[in-house]
Amino acid sequence: KGTVRVGILGLGTVGGGVFKTLHSNRETIRKRTGFEVEVTSILVRDLEKERQFDIDQNLLTLDPQEVLNAECDILIEVMGGLEPARTVITEALQGGRHVITANKELMAKHGAELLDIAEQSGAHLLFEASVAGGIPVIRMLQGYLTANRVKSISGILNGTCNYILTEMARTGREYADILEDAKALGYAEADPTSDVEGFDAAYKLAILTNLAYEACVDLAQIEREGITRLQAADLELADSLGYSIKLIGSAREAEQGGVQLSVRPRLLPKSHPLANINDVFNAVTIQADVVGELTFSGRGAGEFPTASAVIEDLTALLCGESSIRRPSWKRPVQGSAAGKNAQQ
Ligand code: NDP
Ligand code: HSE
Repeated sequence: KGTVRVGILGLGTVGGGVFKTLHSNRETIRKRTGFEVEVTSILVRDLEKERQFDIDQNLLTLDPQEVLNAECDILIEVMGGLEPARTVITEALQGGRHVITANKELMAKHGAELLDIAEQSGAHLLFEASVAGGIPVIRMLQGYLTANRVKSISGILNGTCNYILTEMARTGREYADILEDAKALGYAEADPTSDVEGFDAAYKLAILTNLAYEACVDLAQIEREGITRLQAADLELADSLGYSIKLIGSAREAEQGGVQLSVRPRLLPKSHPLANINDVFNAVTIQADVVGELTFSGRGAGEFPTASAVIEDLTALLCGESSIRRPSWKRPVQGSAAGKNAQQ
């Protein structure tokens, strides 16, 4: 069918995985979609940085405008942070370009506005990689569960915390020490406070809730507590009593109306399906009125699981945008729990 030109913002853990996979799976992508994918330009912060893979230095730029000017058809944003990501994405969408992002903070805080811009300009904004790494849970809520009414969503939404809690229980080491391993493995955010204080899980919970209820969560509606107050001894004690401690994000319809939202460590009996989700794995359980309970699990962070989600968004666009449902996040989600402010 021809060549599609892709501009990329960011060449770190996720961007590197995307770049490498576009190369390694080029033939598969071409066969399945009919398109050759050409990377036209990549935004980085440091041109001198040593990259762990072969890359044509001429592709790299420090100027976001150059990525847009390189006549890309699709923009992939895997740089993180609110700015300049928000501005560049806005400009790309206004110019009618499709955008794929892994940026949960941006989607949780400005997704409604960006989806609106996309709709007005006839472009698509896809964000599968923003929640639960390689698990296709966004597609499930956005594209599949259309006849069901979602009653609740709960899950392990942060790979870094799950990795830390698993290692604390397994080795007795404390969280700060294991956090360094999670950083080295590429799981943690640029500012890992977002992981360990539960902000990252709150962003993801907001995105899932927005999709499930076709509305928009105010992050202040999410009661939030991270894992920083937990000690290895807490996990050891829980284990001896037959429990695991997991950081759980939960959105649940309240009896009095509205949706109750929280992110906090919970004691789960070992027989609970989420109690045995370990390491960097995430899991999401969706309870819906017709289908009942569905649980998805898989790697929730890291180079290739996340790159997979980004590239599946790309191939979805290449296979035919007409089948992609547009999420509507225009009205607020009625919340019944106002806890600690989830904004960072
Ligand atoms: P990294 O820190 O590894 O990479 C960020 C990349 O963006 C780097 O290449 C950096 O350039 C570039 N960059 C960052 N800020 C700027 C800037 N202001 N101007 C120019 N270039 C910039 O992040 P990750 O790959 O881990 O994460 C990227 C996004 O993906 C984030 O939104 C994150 O939340 C999300 N995500 C991450 C996952 C993971 O497992 N890591 C999983 C799911 C989503 P340089 O290389 O020169 O430093
Ligand atoms: N820092 C995030 C996590 C990356 O650990 O889950 C995946 O979104």
